[in-house]
Amino acid sequence: MKAYIITGTSRGIGEALAEQLLMSENSVYCISRSVNDKLEELGATRGAKLSYYTYDLNELTGIDHLMKKIVGSIKLEEDLEAIYLINNAGMLSPVMPIEQCDTELIIQNVTINLLAPMILTSRFIEMTKELAVDKRVMNVSSGSAKFLLPAQSCYSTAKAGIDSFSKSVHLEQQHALNSVKIASVYPGMIDTHMQAEIRSTSKENFPYVDQFIKMAQDGLLQTPENTATKLLELLLSEHYGQSPLVEQL
Ligand SMILES: NC(=O)c1ccc[n+]([C@@H]2O[C@H](COP(=O)([O-])OP(=O)(O)OC[C@H]3O[C@@H](n4cnc5c(N)ncnc54)[C@H](OP(=O)(O)O)[C@@H]3O)[C@@H](O)[C@H]2O)c1
Repeated sequence: MKAYIITGTSRGIGEALAEQLLMSENSVYCISRSVNDKLEELGATRGAKLSYYTYDLNELTGIDHLMKKIVGSIKLEEDLEAIYLINNAGMLSPVMPIEQCDTELIIQNVTINLLAPMILTSRFIEMTKELAVDKRVMNVSSGSAKFLLPAQSCYSTAKAGIDSFSKSVHLEQQHALNSVKIASVYPGMIDTHMQAEIRSTSKENFPYVDQFIKMAQDGLLQTPENTATKLLELLLSEHYGQSPLVEQL
């Protein structure tokens, strides 16, 4: 049995990841604010084990308790051979020059894109320390960490932060007992709610909006399903974690 903990499974890439993992040999633990009925139905049809946790990752101090419940449940699984954490939940906004950004949104952006995955990873490593099974963490980052555009300072900063975090933890895990493999991954440009959000930004706030609209019109966005397939191939590959930053899928 392989256990997968995935954040941001109510739609987009996270939903596609969970969908592809819902098979009898896996146990899938999903986290998002809204529940995903489609996944619940699919899990039941396929006889796959799905546990859905509706949780707002802005509640940072509750993550310890959440992970205690999830990891506690995973430890009871029979024939456990691997545990994976995919930090996929993310938010784009605020998309505007920094002086116009609402303080609450700046806090939320860094919380969801950086602090929550840091805490989830920390608890994951701590709570599975004694388990001598295959353990991997994938942080879904973004090319925006490196390719900077005006109006995306919060998102780019948080994603650059998660890249540094993955690199640091990778170093720590080199000599750890029952070590965890970790990497930050840039998934490309995918046709999800997040891209629709970029396209709906005003040109005044985001001067590059027309380029994003054109890319979608020209069919240059990947599907969430195709992206999820590639992310899982990478996660399960033999060389996973050798490099803590994967810029191209
Ligand atoms: N789409 C792209 O082109 C693209 C490019 C590069 C990187 N990425 C990265 O890929 C990941 C997935 O993005 P996506 O495009 O699939 O985005 P999406 O369609 O907007 O989905 C985001 C997911 O994150 C969850 N989420 C957001 N805030 C949350 C919160 N406070 N607590 C718990 N869950 C929360 C959402 O669930 P709820 O709203 O139900 O909570 C949703 O399931 C993100 O990390 C994003 O930065 C995307």
